[in-house]
Amino acid sequence: MKKFTCVEDIGDLKAAVAEALEIKRNRFAFTELGKNKTLLMIFFNSSLRTRLSTQKAAMNLGMNVMVLDVNQGAWKLEIERGVVMDGDKAEHLLEAIPVMGSYCDIIGVRSFARFESKEEDYEERVIEQFIRYSGRPVFSMEAATRHPLQSFADLITIEEYKTKERPKVVLTWAPHPKALPQAVPNSFAEWMNAADYEFVITHPQGYELDPRFVGKAKVEYDQRKAFEGADFIYAKNWAAYSDPNYGKVLYTDRDWTVDGQKMALTNDAYFMHCLPVRRNMIVTDEVIESPRSIVIPEAANREISAQVVIKRLLEGLNE
Ligand code: CP
Repeated sequence: MKKFTCVEDIGDLKAAVAEALEIKRNRFAFTELGKNKTLLMIFFNSSLRTRLSTQKAAMNLGMNVMVLDVNQGAWKLEIERGVVMDGDKAEHLLEAIPVMGSYCDIIGVRSFARFESKEEDYEERVIEQFIRYSGRPVFSMEAATRHPLQSFADLITIEEYKTKERPKVVLTWAPHPKALPQAVPNSFAEWMNAADYEFVITHPQGYELDPRFVGKAKVEYDQRKAFEGADFIYAKNWAAYSDPNYGKVLYTDRDWTVDGQKMALTNDAYFMHCLPVRRNMIVTDEVIESPRSIVIPEAANREISAQVVIKRLLEGLNE
């Protein structure tokens, strides 16, 4: 594998899940693979899970790890070409990227949507420049439009907990006070469609996702109806995608919060969320603390999804 930014990059999903479960049984089987190899993790945005799980995955593979928080201690980076750099940005990404590439073997990048321009976000300008100019294999640690390490961990978790071949999985929008990117729901939809589950997306009018990610999913505007018979409820907030409201919060009413009454409509569904989660906005205390909440094993599987991806990128160095 030469890069990892979307579901296509992982190839056959059954093989990827099988590899993940094998790694989970023996995380230290490939410590020689990463010996004398260096992973550079670059964060343009904050993180808890991605930072720790990806670092741990690389260490399991015997790698050295360097972490750069671009907005804390590094020069402020300009990302637009042609800008007269007379402001506060001291370095251009076009020099910074190949320099960073010269110090490492593999690069992970986290760079969220900025909500300044839909075109700019959906062109994935930051991570695409890393792919083009670093000279190294690059993987996404959440980009503007996708969060594939999270979605891969979600898929592993569903495969571990499902009791039928084709479970009903419901992605539900839930309220949040701030504008959040569409990366997690886009990516989750992309992976659920590829996994060929019975997949339903529910959200208020105005929160339609990019149809390229919705794909063959059923869109249901009645949240309670969507929950009926569900085996997995995956909650997430996102800001509006459609013009002229791109990046805006349209609705914060807590009648879309996931609570015990709604979960009672499901087939005793498991509750999932990528975390961090705002309690009693997205989900009630009761639901997230219930025995059917699997948010902690879901987060733990981030180490496993990252390890499969980094292992495959290490193997790709010799191809
Ligand atoms: N789910 C997730 O990516 O968490 P962090 O933002 O803490 O990395």
